Amino acid sequence: MYSFIRTFQVKLLFFLLVVAAVTFFLPADFPELLQLQHQDQSLCACEKCLSEENLFILHRLNRSEEPFLSSNTNLSEDAFRWWKLIQNEQRDFGSYKATVHKLFELFPSVADLGKPSADSCRTCAVVGNSVNLKGSRYGPLIDFQDVVIRMNAAPVKDYERDVGTKTTHRVMYPESAVDLDNSTHLVLFPFKIQDLEWVIKAFTTGFFGRSYAPLKSKIKAKRDLVMVINPAFMKYVHEIWLEKKGDYPSTGFMALILALQICDEVHVFGYGADHDGNWSHYFEKLKSKSFKTGPHPGQHEYALIQQLAEKKSVRLYKGW
Ligand code: C5P
Repeated sequence: MYSFIRTFQVKLLFFLLVVAAVTFFLPADFPELLQLQHQDQSLCACEKCLSEENLFILHRLNRSEEPFLSSNTNLSEDAFRWWKLIQNEQRDFGSYKATVHKLFELFPSVADLGKPSADSCRTCAVVGNSVNLKGSRYGPLIDFQDVVIRMNAAPVKDYERDVGTKTTHRVMYPESAVDLDNSTHLVLFPFKIQDLEWVIKAFTTGFFGRSYAPLKSKIKAKRDLVMVINPAFMKYVHEIWLEKKGDYPSTGFMALILALQICDEVHVFGYGADHDGNWSHYFEKLKSKSFKTGPHPGQHEYALIQQLAEKKSVRLYKGW
């Protein structure tokens, strides 16, 4: 009897020790991890989906944030106040709403980009304009992805070997606009009300207003493929991803977070300043050595991209 009690005590002690050890060594965010793994089972059909076992992404990525404006988007006054400040908008919320109303008399009322789904694996290349693309020979790798997002006026012609030829989406704002072919989506990043007016007029009567840089009066692009970024999404990127650093996120950084929202696998090309900390381009000589990364927190953005790469949430191609 005594030896039975003794054995029982030893087993109980052993059991309690195991329970204590497991509890001690489990990460504090274990429930979140479990929840994430559970969510992830149905996220996409890639070998590995974006947020798998990755708390860095889990704490930042919010796929319920709507990246695009649609006719029924209800921008909050708070988001409008934030957006107004980025390029010193003087007009009020009423003017914004009236312009957005006009926007959707002309362009599709819902952006047709789809969301990740359990039976698809959408791969995306996000191509920034960094000088590090020069000589990289990334062209075929970029063209291999389902979605290829390019930026502003970055050329493809004469740079095919390094940057590829395919463009499914081109992000731009009026001052950086270029004509597109009939199959490329125009993704407008509006930084002020005039930018919304510009896109309406550039597709109709022509735009003749002024800005800090020359503006195209008309644009050639397919009207059905126009998508407009939601100011609330810009605010989300600034606050959640950049923790309010810099005046506002760069177009390239927002495009990258957009890719995280809509793609299952994200391949990142053409990001990174030159040795002097300037955002030099692969297609032209640097114009001003004092520009650095403009009003954007370039170093912080790049550090985040590196972190995403370390956590294997994106593949970062650093170029040469
Ligand atoms: O210079 P631009 O704004 O046209 O470039 C598009 C984006 O590419 C930038 O917003 C930035 O995010 C990224 N870029 C970069 N390093 C460079 C040049 C651009 O990361 N040297």
